[in-house]
Amino acid sequence: MKRVMLIFGTRPEAIKMVALASALAASKSLSPILCVTAQHREMLDQILALFSLTPDYDMNLMTPGQTLSALSAKILGGLEPILQQAQPDAILVQGDTTSTLCGALAAFYQRIPVGHVEAGLRTGDLFSPYPEELNRVLTTRISRWHFAATEHNRQTLLNEQVPAEQIFLTGNPVIDALLSVRDRIEHGNASPETQTLLNQFARPYILITGHRRESFGDGFQSICRALARIAKQHPEIDLVYPVHLNPNVQKPVHEILAGIPNVRLIAPQSYEPFVGLMSKSLFIITDSGGVQEEAPSLGKPVLVMRDKTERVESLQGGVRLVGTDEEKIVQAAERLLSDEAFYNQMAGAINPYGTGDAANKIVQILERELG
Ligand code: UD1
Ligand code: UDP
Repeated sequence: MKRVMLIFGTRPEAIKMVALASALAASKSLSPILCVTAQHREMLDQILALFSLTPDYDMNLMTPGQTLSALSAKILGGLEPILQQAQPDAILVQGDTTSTLCGALAAFYQRIPVGHVEAGLRTGDLFSPYPEELNRVLTTRISRWHFAATEHNRQTLLNEQVPAEQIFLTGNPVIDALLSVRDRIEHGNASPETQTLLNQFARPYILITGHRRESFGDGFQSICRALARIAKQHPEIDLVYPVHLNPNVQKPVHEILAGIPNVRLIAPQSYEPFVGLMSKSLFIITDSGGVQEEAPSLGKPVLVMRDKTERVESLQGGVRLVGTDEEKIVQAAERLLSDEAFYNQMAGAINPYGTGDAANKIVQILERELG
């Protein structure tokens, strides 16, 4: 049996690794080792609990207001003895966080081959998203296997001289997670907690999330002013906003939006209630990468509060970039609320990120490569 260690630390990585952990557990020739950096704590634990995942190694590294350098140093230093003890045959990292890059680098230092899930995303601007774009570029250089979600991502890697035989077009396992949770909800098997939460939102609502570092400061102030205007112009709808726990997000959001009666600021939600919230929403305003990938599968238009996106596949479909400019966010939301044809065109978009079988494809490839 060959052993594959999944190293991850944040909420979105956990969601995107869940299906891989089960596919590895079901494999006849591979078995998973779960190692969490816990770059996130509460938001990671929500996902681990929902999917009944117990890490083999929990580095428990999160500190409030952590800096990029301090976190990176702790992950690199902490992974060395874990990798030396566990001696996995390969490691998998996902996406573009500090845990992703440091996980890959720590494995490289032990000469353990690295597989990169969600490979080949680029904006071409190292500062947007910051620091994720650099994390992706460096993780590509370190990795032995590159699991691309789309043909566009595969081409990006080829253009950077990654050998074709090391790139695998698999789709994104976020769709595996999304479809399984969506089905659970649609078949009436959601938990009582999810039902209770969804019952709290009986009026039509727009769902909001936001957390990108490059928007901290002026960007977030402007986003919040736009949301306040939408709420005041439309007392007949709610704005439901599960607020990310980063203090740089919590502060402006609560300062500007708390007290507006139809803005409902709530805690970050576990994945099942959040999928329920997406499914019931009118549309979504977000800067999240994962939400951009998920929403088209639920038929929900997305306004992305970023100037650049690496997820270009859905730009002509269910996703529009609106940046952090107050006026642009308000205008785009108004159009979705008033122009039915525009709304229907966005809501009807096809999801380009996968069909729900990415994890099985990745594990089959690893079975061949490691066999
Ligand atoms: C991180 C990732 C980002 C990813 C995002 C997903 C990096 C550099 N950033 O950003 O790519 O899109 O996660 O959400 O890897 N906090 C808590 N509890 C939690 C999580 C966070 O209190 O469960 C607070 C802490 O004060 C922590 C801070 O948020 O120090 C920042 O967390 P961090 O992981 O460094 O950055 P994110 O903004 O969450
Ligand atoms: N999500 C969640 N609960 C929330 C907000 C988001 O489970 O309260 C999910 C969302 O469906 C997506 C992922 O978390 O799968 C996105 O995480 P985030 O926006 O933190 O990070 P990003 O995708 O931008 O890296």
